[in-house]
Amino acid sequence: MATPHLITTHRIAEATAPVGRSFTIINTLKLDAKTELDALERGLLAPAASIPPKFFYDAIGSTLYNAIVLTPEYYPTRTEAAIFEKYRSEIAAVIGTGKQFVDLGSGDSVKAEAWFARLKPSRYVAVDISETAAQEALARLAGNADAPELAGLITDFSRVLDVTSVMSKEPTLFVYPGSSIGNFLPDEALWFLKQIRAHCETAGSGLLIGVDAKKDATRLDAAYDDALGVTAAFNLNTLRHVNQLLGTDFNVRDWQHRGFYNVALGRIEMHVEARCDVTVRIRGAARRFTRGERIHTENSYKYSPAQFRAILLEAGFTEPQLWQDEQKDFNVFYAKA
Ligand code: AVI
Repeated sequence: MATPHLITTHRIAEATAPVGRSFTIINTLKLDAKTELDALERGLLAPAASIPPKFFYDAIGSTLYNAIVLTPEYYPTRTEAAIFEKYRSEIAAVIGTGKQFVDLGSGDSVKAEAWFARLKPSRYVAVDISETAAQEALARLAGNADAPELAGLITDFSRVLDVTSVMSKEPTLFVYPGSSIGNFLPDEALWFLKQIRAHCETAGSGLLIGVDAKKDATRLDAAYDDALGVTAAFNLNTLRHVNQLLGTDFNVRDWQHRGFYNVALGRIEMHVEARCDVTVRIRGAARRFTRGERIHTENSYKYSPAQFRAILLEAGFTEPQLWQDEQKDFNVFYAKA
């Protein structure tokens, strides 16, 4: 069985960039591989089987996700980028300059960097589950002599958000783009926003967040079931990844992608569906899936502006301001703490 990539470490690494600006990355990732894999097994053996969406993102899954955002049907990423481009100076004027910029799910930090000229952050804190991604991004940023002070935190904030080890006492701008908030259940989304709010003790702090909007089911269905089959490959790849992690024997060809908008629940659901009766070995057990049976792999909730404004207020934020594209496909909110 391949070694799971969810390895527990806790260490502080000093990295030095080409021009000599140094930065610290604190790794508090306490993912216990055994606990993670036991939970994965339980999810697969449950009557309504599921696989958490974090298992999409191995090397192939991450590459496929980068391709999804290029498909004509998947509008959220490019729509958010267009809103940021169009309203950058207006949004920056509302936020104000000189704050500490905490980038939740920083990845390659490219989206964040586009704000630096306008927001002039005093510090930039990259928060991500991938140490490689944060390390590479911070090293790249540190190559720019005008870069703010840099720091990184490696953590799984879907479990708990604790960024105190890397934050200064300055006013803080939290940034959570990409509508990843939609991948939480609504209760969890509220809990997550409350945790961000709890880190905003200093006056002048706030949250900039991108949230996908409710819209016509046909467009949503297409966005999560594109004609090229990129989302299908992304979804099915999770079975291949689970085989590597857990030693299961899913045959990807026995399964098909399902991605559709559940209007009643206001969410995209992604599942993999058995094309025929299949039996899968899951550690010591044999799990039989009948033809048409599904494994739930992801939810992606869509929020009307009024719904999300209410959640921000309930989480303790104030004066939420909204920017949208002309079609009102996507919401960008800034809310003060
Ligand atoms: C990462 N997240 C915001 C994406 C979404 O739209 O919910 C993940 C995704 N799943 C399928 N396509 C994209």
